[in-house]
Amino acid sequence: MKSTSYYLQGIVVFTLLFVVACSTPQSQPQTRQSPTQSKPMEPVKDPHTFANTADVVVKHLDLDLNVDFDKKQLAGKSTLQIENRNGAKQLILDTRDLTIQKVTLDKGDTETKFKLGDEVKYMGRSLTVDITPETKEVNVYYTTSPQAAALQWLAPAQTAGGKKPFLFTQSQAILARSWVPCQDSPSVRITYHAKVKAPKDLLAVMSAKNSTALNAEGVYEFDMPQAIPSYLLALAVGDLSFRPLGNRSGVYAEPNVVDRAANEFADLEKMMAAAESLYGPYRWERYDVIVLPPSFPFGGMENPRLTFATPTILAGDRSLVSLIAHELAHSWSGNLVTNATWNDFWLNEGFTNYFENRIMEVVAGKNYSEMLAQLGLQDLNDELESLKDKPDDTRLKLDLAGRDADDGTTNIAYDKGFMFLRMIEETVGRDKWDAFLKKYFDAFAFQSMMTEKFVSYLRDNLIQGDKALEDKLKIDEWIYKPGLPDNCPKIQAAEFGKVDAQLKAWTGGTAAKDLQTTGWTTQHWLHFLRHLPASMTKQQMSDLDAAFGFTKSGNSEIVTEWLLRAIPNKYEAAYPTLENFLKTVGRRKFVRPLYAELAKTPEGKAMAQRIYKEARPSYHAVTYNTIDELLK
Ligand code: BES
Ligand code: ZN
Repeated sequence: MKSTSYYLQGIVVFTLLFVVACSTPQSQPQTRQSPTQSKPMEPVKDPHTFANTADVVVKHLDLDLNVDFDKKQLAGKSTLQIENRNGAKQLILDTRDLTIQKVTLDKGDTETKFKLGDEVKYMGRSLTVDITPETKEVNVYYTTSPQAAALQWLAPAQTAGGKKPFLFTQSQAILARSWVPCQDSPSVRITYHAKVKAPKDLLAVMSAKNSTALNAEGVYEFDMPQAIPSYLLALAVGDLSFRPLGNRSGVYAEPNVVDRAANEFADLEKMMAAAESLYGPYRWERYDVIVLPPSFPFGGMENPRLTFATPTILAGDRSLVSLIAHELAHSWSGNLVTNATWNDFWLNEGFTNYFENRIMEVVAGKNYSEMLAQLGLQDLNDELESLKDKPDDTRLKLDLAGRDADDGTTNIAYDKGFMFLRMIEETVGRDKWDAFLKKYFDAFAFQSMMTEKFVSYLRDNLIQGDKALEDKLKIDEWIYKPGLPDNCPKIQAAEFGKVDAQLKAWTGGTAAKDLQTTGWTTQHWLHFLRHLPASMTKQQMSDLDAAFGFTKSGNSEIVTEWLLRAIPNKYEAAYPTLENFLKTVGRRKFVRPLYAELAKTPEGKAMAQRIYKEARPSYHAVTYNTIDELLK
């Protein structure tokens, strides 16, 4: 029996590989039973979309947009090619703060009826368009609002060059609808083409095939032949230069940043080779990175073919490039096999965190990747503590119905997800686990994935009825229960032993300048800073600062950890750096904990509010919405 089913599985996998290799990737209807899965699956219920995706699916998008910096507005047309499965008479799309001028069907100019629904918090407004069962194309003529949540319009002073304006988008999780009327659900995949008219001295780039130089008309055309979910739609317009890093990779940035960026990312090709050797071919042809101005609210965003990155990873010593490994890893986990809803977010980020760690192990060695893993485990424990009153948010599979999808972006998805996969690796052995993962990415390439479907694939292909293994893994406990199961791996990075010894010496009275720190990387310093005593005297703070120059460090991770200690210990010498950092950097991961630490005391809160008043206009909506909430 067993050998027959292996044989059949082999045929299935081979056929899938063959189909994937020979056809243009297409998104799969979610209701269809995949040949690699034993049980039929429920259709995807995504609580964060208005779209009637069970009846009509958008297959291709054609955008024609004009970029107007004076009005802070995108204006134009979005043509949606649809597949009407059930003879539906309406197409329902997601929008947020869009003004719709008119909607027409197919190639004709005849307008059709449309209706915008009432505003729903976080979700925006549904756009219901009358169609016929024969309609193939729906053309929506629209403009965006200057407040569009995905868009940040930067004045020249907010850029590195200081002379020209800049625009970038951030569509994840449910913000694409604020600049493109679409079925804004990760369970739907589209290919796209776009024509973007930009001011003549600025280059436009997208998550698609890009130009590397300006053209005289300022009109750029983009093709995205690989099908993607809407949250990966992306556009940036600015004064951009390009430097190649290899024959299928390169970096875009403002002219005065691009060489620094190219130097920082010199190991990119090595990372791509490592990733491919682990989990199969890179399927997006090119991998470029764009370094954005410092208000970019994230560290990185895995927009396909063109990762968007914060300039705060340009530490000068390549010590923060694991972030690039992370965004690159999303080219498999996330962009290729995509969380079907934001409740399944851990399928994107937990897998990517795991994959990032494996890439870093190859390019920087196990001692290094274990430091990353241990820092992550600490983030996880901190997050479990901060969510102790919301235990449901510590499950891997979330239930975010009625809430902002952004509420799911905690370290649980990232670090509990990582620990879960690491636990499986340690239990079944690396060879078996890697073979499983490679097969998984192949089998579900260009499809979306639900947690339940992953679990059933895992049972069918890895556990295969082994009762003892099933008991050891405790899968349901990891995925559906709060907290951390008792089979969570232990992580003990050898390098941190050295740091602990120096911490002990310092608390025992050795002067900071006499500590042995030669050869320490950013990760050693982060461990050091995180394990300093909670309460320190001014004398101790300045002893550390004089020896190691934390306040003036150009490393954003180190500065943030240091400032998080400077605030409760009232180390005023660091306040000007704190203020300047909060006014220039908009990366939420850094500014949120700093404001939160300030808000713990009345004086600190007053200081936070004073700084925030000035800084807020320079933040992206993703960041100011979070800080508004925190300081209200
Ligand atoms: N996809 C995420 C960023 C994101 C998550 C945007 C949820 C919107 C909603 C990206 O891949 C990411 O995880 N970025 C991290 C860096 C990473 C090294 C942990 C970040 O921005 O800090
Ligand atoms: Zn990620």
